[in-house]
Amino acid sequence: MAYATLEGTARYKERFRGRAAENHFRLEENLWLSSIGIGTYLGDWDDETDERYSEAVFHAVELGVNVIDTAINYRFQRSERSIGVALRRIAEQGVAARDELLICTKGGYLPFDSERPRDVRAYVEENFVRPGIAEFSDFIGGSHSMTPRYLQSQIDWSLRNMGLDCVDVYYVHNPEAQLGEVSREEFERRLRAAFELLEQKRAEGKIRMYGAATWNGFRVGMDEKGYHSLPRMVELAREVGGDDHGFRFIQLPFNLAMPEALIARNQVVNGERLTLLEAASALGVTVAASASILQGRVARNLPEEVRQPLGSLATDAQTAIQFVRSTPGITLALVGMSRRAHVEENLQLVRVPPALPEDYQQLFEQVGE
Ligand SMILES: NC(=O)c1ccc[n+]([C@@H]2O[C@H](COP(=O)([O-])OP(=O)(O)OC[C@H]3O[C@@H](n4cnc5c(N)ncnc54)[C@H](OP(=O)(O)O)[C@@H]3O)[C@@H](O)[C@H]2O)c1
Repeated sequence: MAYATLEGTARYKERFRGRAAENHFRLEENLWLSSIGIGTYLGDWDDETDERYSEAVFHAVELGVNVIDTAINYRFQRSERSIGVALRRIAEQGVAARDELLICTKGGYLPFDSERPRDVRAYVEENFVRPGIAEFSDFIGGSHSMTPRYLQSQIDWSLRNMGLDCVDVYYVHNPEAQLGEVSREEFERRLRAAFELLEQKRAEGKIRMYGAATWNGFRVGMDEKGYHSLPRMVELAREVGGDDHGFRFIQLPFNLAMPEALIARNQVVNGERLTLLEAASALGVTVAASASILQGRVARNLPEEVRQPLGSLATDAQTAIQFVRSTPGITLALVGMSRRAHVEENLQLVRVPPALPEDYQQLFEQVGE
């Protein structure tokens, strides 16, 4: 069984001695993780983009990134399969061993197969209803399920797509999608059942850890319908997995235009109102930021007041990523990159230490003036 280990990730980090800045690698969950991870969400569903992603993942691992993030539905399973191709090349060419890399994926949304089917209902019937994996009614909004038997099938599909026998982090994908249609009580019942299955998959060795990857859930106010309480999620995990439960990671968007995790006090831990980042730290949950450059939109025209405290870096994309990886409480800045040129530009940051707390603070003072 191969997966990320302390020994493997320390070996990877050691190879970058003299090439990676202090604090590019962080020790979390007893693993050395790069402060930038490669994401694989956006892009067309065609062979050319598949090849570009395989090349980008390969190159990112060569340049100091040992965290790879995907989801089964990204580009209709093509992103997972492109990662599979990259991982085989990485192993064959001795670029990195499996135990040096943290591989993360997500399940929840209908994955489809390489392209959008012409008849979605027929696709669901053939792949899920007839094999006894799900009922039509299991899919909220016609596209999202987190029942144990559905997630079980999705974990197996993801392992097959990437040619792995174990995924390091398995996220329930956007669980808040269910809150539009079911009561909070029913939602918690479903999430608890999902966590029970994920604990079972940990015991079987198919996943190492799990968590929730969200879009709005952790950013909105406490009275919003799609709101997620992190302490409640941890409590549910503890109920099913005991103190050694595997709920260790969360993912939410965080970037220069979406700073809620740092500033909105929307979590209550032991009676105290905390920000999401403070709550995660108090609860021992690792935070990965998604959409670190807001899908490219905060990677241009940044004002001098933002650029200067973050080190007057060569490009705005680097500056935007530097903001995220320098934020206290964020371990990983996930950046979607399907182009080699973007990998090379962004990973120049491997050599740059994250901004010091006093410089980071100055950013807020200057912007606030
Ligand atoms: N709910 C969730 O769970 C959720 C939601 C969103 C994202 N995520 C995860 O987080 C990852 C990152 O988020 P994201 O991909 O949505 O957005 P992002 O990282 O903010 O932006 C990715 C986009 O920026 C472009 N880009 C990268 N480097 C650039 C540069 N130096 N200059 C200009 N453009 C650049 C990429 O282009 P190329 O592809 O052409 O290189 C891509 O179009 C995702 O890939 C995914 O793994 C999770």
